[in-house]
Amino acid sequence: MVGQRALRRPPGLLLLTSFCLLHLGAAGQPDEEVASIQGVRGSSVELACGSQPAPLVVFWSFIPLGSLIPWPVAVTNGAESKVEAGASALGAVSLRNSSLVLGELRESARGHFLCQALHEAGGQLRTTYSHFSLTVLVPVSKPQVRLSEPSPVEGTFVVATCAVREGTEPVIFAWQHQAPQGPGETLVGVTERLFRLDPVNRMHLGWYVCSAHNAVNRLSSDEAFLDVIYGPDDPVITVEPPHFTEEGFWASEKEEVTLSCLAASNPPSHYVWLRDHSQVHTGPTYTITRTSRAHAGLYTCLAHNSRLDTHTQTTVQLTIYYPPEGQPSCAVLPTLGAVTLVCTWPGGLPAAPLQWEGPQGTGPAALSNVTWSHAATQLANSSVFTCTGQHPALALLALCRITLWEPLQRPTCRTMATTGDQFIMLSCEWPGGEPPALLSWLDGQQQPLGSSSSSLAVHVLQAQEDLAGREFICRGTHPLRVPDAHCRLQLEAPQLAVAEPWVSVLEGGEAWLACALLGGMPPAQLLWLGPQHLPVEPGLSGFMLHHEGTRLRLGIQAADPAHHGGTYHCVAHNTLGSSSQSVQLEVLRYPAPPNVTIRSLTYGRHRREVQLQWAIRGPGNWTGFLVQRRAGVPGPGAGAWETAAGDIEPESRTRRLGGLDPGVLYAFRVLALNHHTTGHPSEVKIPADSPFSAYPAVLGAAGTGMVVATVASLLVFQYAARHPETFPCIETPSTIPGSDPAQESMDVPVNVTITVTATP
Ligand SMILES: *[C@@H]1O[C@H](CO)[C@@H](O)[C@H](O)[C@H]1NC(C)=O
Ligand SMILES: *[C@@H]1O[C@H](CO)[C@@H](O)[C@H](O)[C@H]1NC(C)=O
Ligand SMILES: *[C@@H]1O[C@H](CO)[C@@H](O)[C@H](O)[C@H]1NC(C)=O
Ligand SMILES: *[C@@H]1O[C@H](CO)[C@@H](O)[C@H](O)[C@H]1NC(C)=O
Ligand SMILES: *[C@@H]1O[C@H](CO)[C@@H](O)[C@H](O)[C@H]1NC(C)=O
Repeated sequence: MVGQRALRRPPGLLLLTSFCLLHLGAAGQPDEEVASIQGVRGSSVELACGSQPAPLVVFWSFIPLGSLIPWPVAVTNGAESKVEAGASALGAVSLRNSSLVLGELRESARGHFLCQALHEAGGQLRTTYSHFSLTVLVPVSKPQVRLSEPSPVEGTFVVATCAVREGTEPVIFAWQHQAPQGPGETLVGVTERLFRLDPVNRMHLGWYVCSAHNAVNRLSSDEAFLDVIYGPDDPVITVEPPHFTEEGFWASEKEEVTLSCLAASNPPSHYVWLRDHSQVHTGPTYTITRTSRAHAGLYTCLAHNSRLDTHTQTTVQLTIYYPPEGQPSCAVLPTLGAVTLVCTWPGGLPAAPLQWEGPQGTGPAALSNVTWSHAATQLANSSVFTCTGQHPALALLALCRITLWEPLQRPTCRTMATTGDQFIMLSCEWPGGEPPALLSWLDGQQQPLGSSSSSLAVHVLQAQEDLAGREFICRGTHPLRVPDAHCRLQLEAPQLAVAEPWVSVLEGGEAWLACALLGGMPPAQLLWLGPQHLPVEPGLSGFMLHHEGTRLRLGIQAADPAHHGGTYHCVAHNTLGSSSQSVQLEVLRYPAPPNVTIRSLTYGRHRREVQLQWAIRGPGNWTGFLVQRRAGVPGPGAGAWETAAGDIEPESRTRRLGGLDPGVLYAFRVLALNHHTTGHPSEVKIPADSPFSAYPAVLGAAGTGMVVATVASLLVFQYAARHPETFPCIETPSTIPGSDPAQESMDVPVNVTITVTATP
């Protein structure tokens, strides 16, 4: 239409145009063919007309598509050419010799072009016609993706359109999709201008590009993003480190645990963590840096899509595992014919599996507590059994071991009486061993007495005499010992023997009485009874007790016929009875020494000393002499005899005695000694004045001094009589062989002789 209005008929060409039309209308296309030419808008095409030789005149006309009216376009005669001004509606039209050049081709140039060329040949004019049918192709414009809804909710639909402003049909479309994290662009497989995603889903999310092409060109659109809104899906919870239980997850106490939640959603989910219904964290990952048992529980991950305001949630159980305390503990219980191995490791979550292993292979397994009854046969001494415990919260195995060993030797049987001798205790001991040996008491008929016990078995019997002779057996059983080991004992009253039934000792000597226990069960106590039937206690002065194994020896020092001679009894006693043996101790005196007579007794100077001479009369042995003096006048009221000099050597026959009170009148006598035996005293004599030492004046004072001396002597005697042990040598005169009381008639009031004195 534009072309029609723009093409105005140029007057100079009217004739020619008519001619052409005439020709066309009359003859159609008598000898010409129509050339189909395609041009692209904006580019140029050249329509060549005529052939050699060069035509005289060339005339180009144009018939727009759908019209029958030709329009003149250009004419040339070779020298000059003319292009119709209105031809610019077709593009930049020019002539190149006889060819019509259409530059910057416009769509209005679509239609028929006719070239009429006038030739001269052989003087004749000849006309040739060239027909062109020109098609103007339009390139496709840059397409644009249009989405009916750029952010559709998953499940609705969306229509994608590839909009192309222009372009010669047929225009072919191609769609490409690029998912955000996808592997690359993928061809959608739609060749249409639009496609419908119904229902749209998350897989459709991403960038879309459409491209359009026709015969001329191909252009692609910019990317358009289809943001499919969806989710959140049900969250998926993962735990690091990943430990699974039937209900959920577990983590070791004190380790770090990270709970991660992922719920697919667009826009991405907001996460909230709950533990047992209270919020503990927001965000997709929740890290517990050091778990404790309090962290166990139900963990819920809440996912929220803020755009849709939709929620989903998932709950998992987190269990905190912790191992049992310490190590497994191994024990072995003694059982008849078998060993019962017990391994326990209580506590922990979950309970720890325990497994026994022995020298002959593996044993039973169980949780926390496993018992293995193992036959004792063919177990060597020092067999090792191991119990191994595992726990998921422990990297290493935990174990305990037990070594079964057999105690050495055999049980030991003993008896003991309780204090008061009411009961007899049988005790049997067999220490050591793993397990410890089982001990039990049997009577003589092998009947058990009470139950068995480990390592030590005690049986108590009421003490009765009819138990004497009864036999008891202690049986020790140990799983590694075949056959059983025994010890036995027989109850019996004690028996004893003395070394010598008759012992004699010289006066003053040391005697030993020995007694030995020969048997008796329970073991008896030994005891010595003295001549007065009183027990000899250790520490009693003059006695010594020596225990030597089963022997008890009694020593008597400084044997004294009066106190020590007589019958001693050795007594043995246990709960079943007692026995005793006697020993006769004879304390022998030394032979009596010879008689002594005083040769002379004279005062020394100032009557403070005397000079004594004596002589032996008769046969006999002696070991020394003793001089005694007595203050006072002979007769009643005289003092007691006191030693003036002891320990006089047997060779001496003379002695000077000092320390006398000149006012006192003294009497003297001499005795010979054979060891402890004193002889008869000599006659009593009063010293005589030597011719130059008489002091009669002093005699007047004698009475007072004599009284004092007598009292002092009496006190000494009384003390000595009450404490005979400290005065072993106080003797009654009657025990002195050969003594004659008649000789003592001078000393009637004091009927004793003091041979050794000590002042209290
Ligand atoms: C136009 O014609 C002239 C003379 O006939 C010739 O020399 C020239 O090459 C032709 N031009 C073209 C483009 O054919
Ligand atoms: C071990 O198990 C036995 C029985 O199977 C039971 O008698 C004993 O008490 C248990 N010991 C512990 C520590 O659980
Ligand atoms: C068994 O072995 C242990 C050492 O492992 C040892 O002490 C014990 O005396 C042995 N018993 C016997 C009966 O050899
Ligand atoms: C010794 O003296 C006593 C008494 O004085 C007397 O009986 C005895 O016969 C005397 N012995 C000798 C051997 O003279
Ligand atoms: C004196 O002792 C000796 C030996 O010690 C003895 O042989 C002798 O018989 C004794 N004399 C008297 C009288 O006892």
